[in-house]
Order: sequence, then structure tokens, then C-alpha cells
Amino acid sequence: RIVYLNGEWLPEAEAKVSVFDRGFLFADAIYEVTGVIDGKLLEYEGHAARLKRSITELGLNLPISASELLEVHREIIRRNELKEGLIYLQLSRGPADRDFAFPKDPTPTLVLFTQAKSVIENPKLATGLSVALLPDWRWERRDIKTVQLLYPSMAKMQSMEKGADDAWLVEDGFVTEASSATAHIIDKTGRLITRPLSNAILHGITRASVLDLAEKAGIPYDERAFTPDEAMNAAEAFITSATNFVMPVTRIDGEPVGDGKPGTLTLKLRELYIADKI
Ligand code: PDD
Repeated sequence: RIVYLNGEWLPEAEAKVSVFDRGFLFADAIYEVTGVIDGKLLEYEGHAARLKRSITELGLNLPISASELLEVHREIIRRNELKEGLIYLQLSRGPADRDFAFPKDPTPTLVLFTQAKSVIENPKLATGLSVALLPDWRWERRDIKTVQLLYPSMAKMQSMEKGADDAWLVEDGFVTEASSATAHIIDKTGRLITRPLSNAILHGITRASVLDLAEKAGIPYDERAFTPDEAMNAAEAFITSATNFVMPVTRIDGEPVGDGKPGTLTLKLRELYIADKI
């Protein structure tokens, strides 16, 4: 692969970052993941806007202009001949002598790379995902897309050890989100229920689009927190993310959701999303 590192295009083996980079030492960095289908960017404006917000919240500095950043996204698709998959972007505060205080005028580190992945044809669509409920032990600013992904990684591993595909995280008796996706349910009357935006969850770009599409399709929705019990008694459950679009969840802690098959409204929302975005 050819990666982008601070203005240079390099073969991945030659792209090197300092051991003093604060992204490495302090997880002082943010990221974005943007989907690519047919060599085209998906929902770029949404991801660019969220990146800007993360930058502002942490006082980071994007070393290139917004239009240059879009051009880098387009160029990395061309250079890697990426058809389907994702672009990963990471921006750290940059290298500095190790100190908890932020350095004055650091030089940020901006990295982009691609990952090929089959997004439209996902074998998990046939059965849906199974999720395990685990406590949400992340920090309380989950609205900022930082690279502090140790706990989400541990939660993913623990769910896999239990035979599940992923975790749904629970805090104060309510589901927050999946390890790297937004969690949603559909109740027995056909209402979509999803947690409202706050610092407790990442403000999903796919979430926003799916709510828009639900509204247009006449699927009612409530933005409110739901409990694990409600989820286990729901008619349908699903997750959304840039790399899953809309993906059914058919088991929670081993118990089937509804009839245990991918839900009708879930699959309809997935179709609507694909039709609208691609
Ligand atoms: N994750 N919640 C969390 C904690 C996430 O990490 C993500 C995305 C989402 C969904 O956001 P969006 O719809 O904007 O992709 C929700 C990316 C895909 C990742 O970490 O790989």
C-alpha cells in the first residue's frame, strides 16, 4: 500500500513515525474512518465535519486545508486503486519530549491509509451478528473520536471469547453503543429506538443518515436510551457504522432477538441506505 504521511506518499514500509509521537505515548490523537464504494468516498462531508469537531475539542491542528484534505482522500483511492473498503485517517498532536502538559507549537502527525474490505457483500448479513453485553468502561468523552481504543478492543476480544461477534456496552443500566458502531433497536410496534447524541456516544455519521432515511420511509423513531432488557425483548436490533452500513444483530447474550433472524425493517433500512448513498 501507498500511505500518506505529512505531505508525502510512501510505500507502507517506509512510512515511519517518531517514538516520541504523542499519539503513541499518550493516545493524544484522533481518527476518522470513511467508507469507499466503487472507488468513491461515502459521506465525506459528515466525516470531515466530525474530524473538525474532534480537532477543536482537543485543540489539535490540521496541517493542511479542508480542500487539500479532500484531495488527499481522492488521491489515496487512486494510488491504491481502492474499489471497496475504507480510508483511515489519524491526526496526532505530534512528537514532543514526554510530558503530560501539551507541547507548545507541536508539529502534528497526519497519516492516511486504505484498507480493502467487502462492505456490500458481508457474509454476516445472512445470520446477523451476535453481541455480548459488557460494562462500558471507556472515558466519558466518547463524542470525540480519539484513538483510545484499548477498552473497545478488550470488549471485542471478551465477546469473541464468549462466542459472540461484538459487544454492546452498558452504562448505568442503559446500552451506550457497540465497540465500534452505533446500537439501535426496533420495538414490537415498529418504532426505531436509538440513544440521543451526548458525550456518552460517538455521533455516528451513518446513524444520522439512517434516521433521515427512516423518517422519509415513514418509520417512526425515538431518540432515547434503552436498557439491555428492552433490547432483548425488541423485535429487531442492528448496528450502524461506516464499515457496516446497517448490520442486523440477532442475538444478545445468547438470546435471540425477535425470531432470531435479521429483521425486515433492518434490512429495509440497509437497502435504503445503499440506494441513497451509492
Ligand atoms: N467506528 N460508535 C463508535 C464507538 C465507533 O467507533 C463508530 C465508528 C461508530 C459509528 O460511527 P460512523 O457511523 O460515523 O462510522 C459509533 C469506526 C468505523 C472504526 O472505529 O473503525
